[in-house]
Amino acid sequence: MRRLASRAERIRPFIVMDILERARRLEAQGRKIIHMEIGEPDFPTPAPIVAAGMRALAGGALHYTPAPGLESLRRAIAAHYLHRYGVALNHERIFVTPGASGAFLLVLGLVLESGDQVLVPDPGYPCNRNLVRLFGGEPVLIPVDAAGDYHLTPELVRAHWTPATAGVWITSPANPTGTVIDPRVLGAICREIEASGGFLLSDEIYHGLEYGRRCVSALELCDDAFVVNSFSKYFGMTGWRLGWAVVPEPFIDAATRLVQNLFIAAPTHSQQAALAAFGEETALELERRRRAFEARGRFLYHALVNLGFTLGPYPQGAFYLYANCAAFAEDSYRFAVELLERAGVAITPGRDFGLNEAANHVRFAYTTSLENLQEGVNRIAAYLRTVDRA
Ligand SMILES: Cc1ncc(COP(=O)(O)O)c(C=O)c1O
Repeated sequence: MRRLASRAERIRPFIVMDILERARRLEAQGRKIIHMEIGEPDFPTPAPIVAAGMRALAGGALHYTPAPGLESLRRAIAAHYLHRYGVALNHERIFVTPGASGAFLLVLGLVLESGDQVLVPDPGYPCNRNLVRLFGGEPVLIPVDAAGDYHLTPELVRAHWTPATAGVWITSPANPTGTVIDPRVLGAICREIEASGGFLLSDEIYHGLEYGRRCVSALELCDDAFVVNSFSKYFGMTGWRLGWAVVPEPFIDAATRLVQNLFIAAPTHSQQAALAAFGEETALELERRRRAFEARGRFLYHALVNLGFTLGPYPQGAFYLYANCAAFAEDSYRFAVELLERAGVAITPGRDFGLNEAANHVRFAYTTSLENLQEGVNRIAAYLRTVDRA
């Protein structure tokens, strides 16, 4: 039999899947598990979006769309940039893709040569480094910490830039930390990258889920950035598999050829549904949800601090908290497994997000109701009373 390609061999599994599977097994035995490991909104897709999707399904016009996406949706996304960020975009720079995940394939396909290094923060979203590897590149994991809001800085970018460096991949609000990059830091990174002739890939998937200052798009600071976003998180459409990439003007032709070959097109009914994502009724519902996430985050942050976890500054986005659990365990993976098995609370060990201090950290996702979070906190408190503090 033909052996597995080395690029596939280098892809790491998600450890959270192991936790999720253990949780499902316990649930099958009748245990109630509080899920704080899941990185998707617990709310259903907003009703106007579902209704638009159903109309599309009933109408039967479900053939392929143009490869870059429905023109009406690309124009709606361009209008969203003008409204939210004050950025006027040619809609032809917008490519609708199967999720942000599809947009990453497009952007990496456009910019990466074999052997290119890409600077990524550690901790960070695990797919980033796996996808860079899949494209023959080399992710350079740069340790970041709470003092620097868990984001790269222009100094870090400069210090790690080598002749092999092709670009920088930033995610803000970040997964797993929920922290938002300071616009001045992002601007300075843009200038640093421009001076080196590299690319900036800005993952803005958690924009909208912001609880302090407004999240600034990289496109406000640097017209040449490759920006990725998605309907998954803020718009509550994870399963519809729809996202987008904004590429610089000179990349439009190549991006068109690439999406033709990669996807033919993003799902048609999802694109029709997403046309309702920017309507007023949806906006009101999304704002209610944003407030609900904000309240959950605030509750959980203070509850975890009271329990003795060490957390950085109050995170201003997404739906994650990244907590240091070194006071309770030497290894966060063992801690997560024990917490699941003994207390019935599922969380994600730090190892999923990189190497930097991973054994000391766990990620809590507040993608469940306040009642469930309260019960989860009670269970963690009871469990911690049985643990010798390190
Ligand atoms: C930071 C980040 N980027 C991208 C994705 C992928 O999202 P999508 O569902 O749009 O493919 C995720 C999903 O969890 C994520 O956390």
